[in-house]
Amino acid sequence: MSDVLELAGVSLVRGGKTLLDSVDWQVKDGERWVIMGPNGAGKTSLLQIAGARIHPTRGVAGILDEVLGAVDVFELRPRIGLASAALAAQIPEHETVLNVVVTASYGITGRWREQYEKQDARRAFALLDAWGMSTFMNRPFASLSEGERKRVQIARALMTDPELLLLDEPGAGLDLAGREDLITRLAALAQDDESPVMVLVTHHLEEVPPGFTHAMLMRDGAVVASGPIETVFTEEHLSAAFDVPLDVRHQDGRYTAVARARA
Ligand SMILES: Nc1ncnc2c1ncn2[C@@H]1O[C@H](COP(=O)(O)OP(=O)(O)OP(=O)(O)O)[C@@H](O)[C@H]1O
Ligand SMILES: [Mg+2]
Repeated sequence: MSDVLELAGVSLVRGGKTLLDSVDWQVKDGERWVIMGPNGAGKTSLLQIAGARIHPTRGVAGILDEVLGAVDVFELRPRIGLASAALAAQIPEHETVLNVVVTASYGITGRWREQYEKQDARRAFALLDAWGMSTFMNRPFASLSEGERKRVQIARALMTDPELLLLDEPGAGLDLAGREDLITRLAALAQDDESPVMVLVTHHLEEVPPGFTHAMLMRDGAVVASGPIETVFTEEHLSAAFDVPLDVRHQDGRYTAVARARA
């Protein structure tokens, strides 16, 4: 298996409810994906499987040349960077910003801690610096603004130098300037050949960073459309996914969508 992600017939059932319904999805090296769909469509559930956090009820999930269920997930997880609201909620209130980033490496450095500590701290600082957050390194994470937290979470997700980066709604709760700043940074990351394969979940077409190559639209746990971004973000597919007639524009690498005015 050479795909970064290769999901075949993946279903997820919880409490008698089908959250994912036979999802097929191939993600290859170098691709940058956006996943969109209404609340409850199954986006976070899909990311949880792609991040080796949960197993599918049915189907096969291939991740980074391993198959979920036949691999030690504790070896697989450090190869995948994940930033989500659920993970952020687990951070202890007084944890400093530097620690939030540095602790992401504990999983892989384990018994060599002493030797690696300085190196880890240096890498964490460099990542915070790249995301404009190094001056905040000694602040408690809980004292940061939403936008500052989002940048720290992405720095944390990059700490293990992952091969796959999963971002679940990194733009949620940001003001206009914060959103634009994040999009600029994500676009730069997307355009860097050294960057991991990226998957970004968002609710807003306006948040899609230039340079993203592929998209998936979901609805009720199923895939509505999937493939190269310009074939997916069409008025037809977006209107179907959100069940609203939409006018969609694409200009200078950015997308916008508004409800179609009634005649
Ligand atoms: N343990 C569970 N038991 C039953 N239903 C669940 C369980 N976990 C999640 N769900 C339901 O699964 C559906 C999909 O949830 P998921 O979080 O994947 O959606 P989402 O697309 O990320 O939505 P949002 O845009 O609101 O974040 C939701 O309707 C949710 O209530
Ligand atoms: Mg979600």
